[in-house]
Amino acid sequence: MMEVNRFSLLPVVVLCALTAARFSYAAGNKADLVKHLNRFNKPSVKSIKSPDGDVIDCVHISHQSAFDHPSLKNHEIQMRPNYHPEGMNYESMKISSENQRPITQLWHVNGNCPKGTIPVRRTRKKDILRASSVKKYGQKSSLSTVAHPSSIDLDLINQSGHQHAIAYVEGEFFGAKATMNVWDPQIQQTNEFSLSQIWLLGGSFASDLNSIEAGWQVSPDLYGDNNTRFFTYWTSDAYQSTGCYNLLCSGFIQINNEIALGASISPISKYHSSQYDISLLIWKDPEQGNWWMQFGNGKVLGYWPGSLFSYLTDSASMIQWGGEVVNSASDGQHTTTQMGSGHFPEEGFGKSSYFRNVQIVDGSNSLRAPKDIATFTEQPNCYDVQMGRNDGWGSYIYYGGPGRNTNCP
Ligand SMILES: *[C@@H]1O[C@H](CO)[C@@H](O)[C@H](O)[C@H]1NC(C)=O
Ligand SMILES: *[C@@H]1O[C@H](CO)[C@@H](O)[C@H](O)[C@H]1NC(C)=O
Repeated sequence: MMEVNRFSLLPVVVLCALTAARFSYAAGNKADLVKHLNRFNKPSVKSIKSPDGDVIDCVHISHQSAFDHPSLKNHEIQMRPNYHPEGMNYESMKISSENQRPITQLWHVNGNCPKGTIPVRRTRKKDILRASSVKKYGQKSSLSTVAHPSSIDLDLINQSGHQHAIAYVEGEFFGAKATMNVWDPQIQQTNEFSLSQIWLLGGSFASDLNSIEAGWQVSPDLYGDNNTRFFTYWTSDAYQSTGCYNLLCSGFIQINNEIALGASISPISKYHSSQYDISLLIWKDPEQGNWWMQFGNGKVLGYWPGSLFSYLTDSASMIQWGGEVVNSASDGQHTTTQMGSGHFPEEGFGKSSYFRNVQIVDGSNSLRAPKDIATFTEQPNCYDVQMGRNDGWGSYIYYGGPGRNTNCP
């Protein structure tokens, strides 16, 4: 019944009908732009043109932009984690071998990145021109907020227009895992986005919030199209000045030569039809203090050095799983931007978006189902979340919704 796990990473072919925005760039800004492009795009061993318009640069692993960070200048790269959390491996219970396809990305049809390099999605001039400023490119808006379920200041969440439908746990955690199906939600306006991800949070929800995030997103402003892309984010100061998406600033250190952060995912789940999901595990290496990320069943992509963070140097105090959209309510009504599949949790498997096998890494570095999991959403009539538990899926949630509808005007 469940055709899940036949996932692979293959950029969807889109005609990038982005006729270059005609900016009148002053000479000074032009020089600035070139300087910034050079900061993002490191000299490559080889470049591969993906059929979807992306260019993937194979950058020598020791030349990646992570090492531009002052605190990482003399960093000795770790090629493998010292420790891998143990626990239930639902995936291997679930996978029927006939359905397994290798994870690939579309650019693979035109080549691969050699060992010793990492694939980096090239930043183009037009990517930067879409951002409000060069400085803002690759960063979340400083108005970004994380759903803070126990906050008394819920008005603030509503104000910035970010809406969430999540499950969360509070305590002391050393990692999180889940398997999420992948969709292509419609976005009403290019300055809105829709994402589905795991959050690992530390610190207070004020200006010192530490966050590690990974999942999939549709973000026309960031990528210039409506493709569903695999992405990561981190910040150590509540989205103010540190952190960024993917490899767009120094921070995440990649070691894997197959998966490019920010590249499109395919196939995508279809309503009342095939479901495709991806597994993500993020965990802390107790010896080195680095936060590692694994994609699928064993592709260790790399790590965030513990030194990037303050609170997360120790542990995460909250984990969240679910969706977030921006509701800019531009026409005075709620946005029609969808979250997840664009359908409510009640519709269930094959129709609604889910996280299954939701797990945390506990103090003994074991993966287990979280206790006392709770849910939060600002406006359940727009986007909702429901949780459940069974033998096959462990703890799971269904989440998402259509945005504007008769009950969400
Ligand atoms: C993205 O989707 C919107 C409608 O949801 C459409 O207007 C726009 O042209 C699409 N953009 C691209 C680059 O395909
Ligand atoms: C957010 O705003 C909506 C509409 O103004 C309101 O109905 C809802 O209760 C608010 N949610 C929270 C959590 O404050």
